[in-house]
Amino acid sequence: MTDRAAIALSLAGLSKAFGGLSAVDRVNLEVAGGERRAIIGPNGAGKTTLFSLISGETEPTAGRIALFGRDVTRFSPHRRAALGLARTYQITNLFPRLTALENCLLAVQALTGAKFHLHRALHRYPAFFARAHGVLEAVGLNDKAGEAVRNLSHGEQRQLEIALALAGAPRLLLLDEPTAGLSPAESHAMTALLKKLDPAITLLVIEHDMDVAFALTDRITVLHYGKVVADGLAHEVKANALVQEIYLGTS
Ligand SMILES: Nc1ncnc2c1ncn2[C@@H]1O[C@H](COP(=O)(O)OP(=O)(O)OP(=O)(O)O)[C@@H](O)[C@H]1O
Ligand SMILES: [Mg+2]
Repeated sequence: MTDRAAIALSLAGLSKAFGGLSAVDRVNLEVAGGERRAIIGPNGAGKTTLFSLISGETEPTAGRIALFGRDVTRFSPHRRAALGLARTYQITNLFPRLTALENCLLAVQALTGAKFHLHRALHRYPAFFARAHGVLEAVGLNDKAGEAVRNLSHGEQRQLEIALALAGAPRLLLLDEPTAGLSPAESHAMTALLKKLDPAITLLVIEHDMDVAFALTDRITVLHYGKVVADGLAHEVKANALVQEIYLGTS
């Protein structure tokens, strides 16, 4: 018998239409706890929309979403986060004038619901500080804690976004193109960082760079016009003729 809770994420017939456009079209997907899964597909395939459906920022036209065995289709984004879901965005979502540490502190406190004044009585919040430093360390940015975000490199800013997503100790983490716009060296650093994340965290990564997708994950799901057109081990997906045609452009 399958342990329902061992399935981190389950999507059944999940669909989203924008007017006449089927952005996500009857997607069925199961991701096991602790699994690392890449979602690939051409521009406009529906990858980001799929993440917004999972996080609850977009309402589905049809279908069901279950997190850790629990139907969350009607849950608010906040309730899903409380169950252990976190995501990053394709576009940067940081406060540029605040320091790396302050950005983390805000992310930590946002999840507690406690009243918190950034520039007042900081010593009153030792647990928040410990947590904020912990997530900075997890992404290798501890030495940049006091640096304003706008002075960080693009690669460091993307690392910081991962730190913010880790603030709530998520069990399922959705990363939307974590290496987008990065130099080869920065992309390499990001891949190494993601590989070092707690293996208990289930990871779903939208990734355009196939090398990164293959380095990070064992299983790959391919979206095309909102539909899952391939799903399997990296080498199987790589060898799939349809995938080569629509995505790799090799025929
Ligand atoms: N809010 C919206 N209103 C209308 N159409 C939308 C909306 N959001 C997305 N779309 C459309 O839905 C389709 C899927 O978009 P989505 O952003 O999910 O694709 P994607 O796979 O993430 O693409 P990319 O690789 O470029 O990030 C596209 O045709 C897009 O134009
Ligand atoms: Mg996208």
